[in-house]
Amino acid sequence: MAMAGGRSRVGFLILCVMMMICVGGSAYGEVCIPRKHAALFVFGASLFDTGNNNYINTSAISGINIFPYGQTFFKYPSGRFTDGRVIPDFIAEYARLPLPLPYLFPAYQTYTDGTNFASGGSGALVETHRGFVIDLKTQLANLRNVNRILRNRHGDAETNKLVSNSIYLFNVGTNDYTARVTENSSVLLSYSADEYVKIVVGNLTSVVQDIYKMGGRKFGFLGIAPLGCLPSLRARVNGTAGSCLEEANELAKQHNKELSLVLQNLERKLQGFKYSFTNYYDLVSQLMNFPSKYGFKEGMVACCGSGPYRGYSTCGGRMGVKYELCENPSDHVFFDPSHYSERAAQIIAHQMWSGNGNTTGPYNLRSLFQD
Ligand SMILES: *[C@@H]1O[C@H](CO)[C@@H](O)[C@H](O)[C@H]1NC(C)=O
Ligand SMILES: *[C@@H]1O[C@H](CO)[C@@H](O)[C@H](O)[C@H]1NC(C)=O
Ligand SMILES: *[C@@H]1O[C@H](CO)[C@@H](O)[C@H](O)[C@H]1NC(C)=O
Ligand SMILES: *[C@@H]1O[C@H](CO)[C@@H](O)[C@H](O)[C@H]1NC(C)=O
Ligand SMILES: *[C@@H]1O[C@H](CO)[C@@H](O)[C@H](O)[C@H]1NC(C)=O
Repeated sequence: MAMAGGRSRVGFLILCVMMMICVGGSAYGEVCIPRKHAALFVFGASLFDTGNNNYINTSAISGINIFPYGQTFFKYPSGRFTDGRVIPDFIAEYARLPLPLPYLFPAYQTYTDGTNFASGGSGALVETHRGFVIDLKTQLANLRNVNRILRNRHGDAETNKLVSNSIYLFNVGTNDYTARVTENSSVLLSYSADEYVKIVVGNLTSVVQDIYKMGGRKFGFLGIAPLGCLPSLRARVNGTAGSCLEEANELAKQHNKELSLVLQNLERKLQGFKYSFTNYYDLVSQLMNFPSKYGFKEGMVACCGSGPYRGYSTCGGRMGVKYELCENPSDHVFFDPSHYSERAAQIIAHQMWSGNGNTTGPYNLRSLFQD
C-alpha cells in the first residue's frame, strides 16, 4: 500500500512537471496532454471488444450479457466475450492505462488514453455479419470522430502529438474466415481462398494507411489463431477425435503470411511507420495441445457450452438451450466455443507486450509504447 501510494505521488509530480512545460508552451491556453503520452486505440472483433455490442442491435449474434460471462474478474457480464478481461485490457494494464472503454459507452470520455472501437462478430469485409456489427470501416469513421473531438478540445498541436504517439491495435479477420467456412454466402464464396485472404488483408491495410495519413505511426497486430481447432469448429468435424477443420486453419496460416509481407512493405514505404506483429498461430497450437505446460487442465474442450468439445454456442442458456459450465474457467484455454478464457488472454497479451523472436516482431508493444 505504502509503495503504491509513493509511486503514484511520484507519478503525479512527473505529470505536473510535464503539464507545466506543456502549458508554458501553449499560446491559447489549450488543455494539454503530457508530452510523449501514448493512448491505446483498439480495432477488431470479439477478442478485443470491451462492450460496444451492448449498444447496438445485435441480438442475432451476441447475447453474451448474461451469467456466466464476466464471472471471474468483473463479477457481472461486462459485454466482453469471456469470463474476465480480454487481451486489450491486459495491454492497457501493462501500459498503465485505464481499461479501454467501449467507444459507444454512453458517458463523457476524454479519449486522451484512447478508446475501444472493436465489435464482436465484425470482420474486415462489410459483408461479414452485416447489420449486426460495427464493421472495420465504421470503426475507422469512429476514430475520425474522436480525432475531431480531440482537436476541438486540445487544438491541433496537442492532438497531433497524441495521434503520432498512440498505439493502434488490430485483430481482424477471424470472422471473415469463419463466415467463409461455416456460412453459405454467395458473395464471399465467389473468390478463391487466395483471393479472399488478399481482400481481407487489403481492407485491413487500407484502414492502416488511412490512420497513417491521419498521423498515426505505431501499430500493433495480433494474427489469426488455428481457427479450425476452436471448439466451435471442431464440433463440426466428424471423424478422428481431436481433429480440426483444416480449411479454416489454411485460411488462418495464409492470412498471417500475407499480413506479415504487407507490413514489411508498409514499413519500407511509409516513413516513420512502426509495427508489432504477433503471429500466435503456433502459440495457440501449443496451448491446445500441451495445456499443462501452461498451467491449464484442458486445451480443447470449452469451459462453457454444450455438445462435442462444448462447441455449441449455448453458454449462458442462449437460445434457451441447456449448457454445461466448468468449475474453474482458468483451467480451460477456451471459455466458450470461440473465445479464450481470461487466463489464456493474459498469456497472449503478455506475448504481444514483451515477446520477441519468431512470434512477435519487429517491435513488441512494450517497446512501441516506450519509444
Ligand atoms: C433488432 O433486431 C431484431 C432481429 O433482426 C429485430 O427483430 C428488431 O426489430 C430490432 N430492434 C430494433 C430496435 O431495431
Ligand atoms: C451451400 O450452397 C450450395 C450451392 O447453393 C449448396 O449446394 C450447398 O448444399 C450449401 N451448403 C450448405 C451447408 O448449406
Ligand atoms: C475490400 O473488400 C471488398 C469486399 O467487401 C472488395 O471488393 C475490395 O476489393 C476490398 N479492397 C481491397 C483493397 O482489397
Ligand atoms: C456428423 O456425424 C453425425 C453422426 O454420424 C451426423 O448426424 C452429422 O450429420 C454429421 N455432421 C457433419 C457436419 O457431417
Ligand atoms: C525461429 O524460426 C526459425 C526458422 O523457422 C527456427 O530455426 C528457430 O528455431 C526459431 N526460433 C525460435 C526461438 O523459435
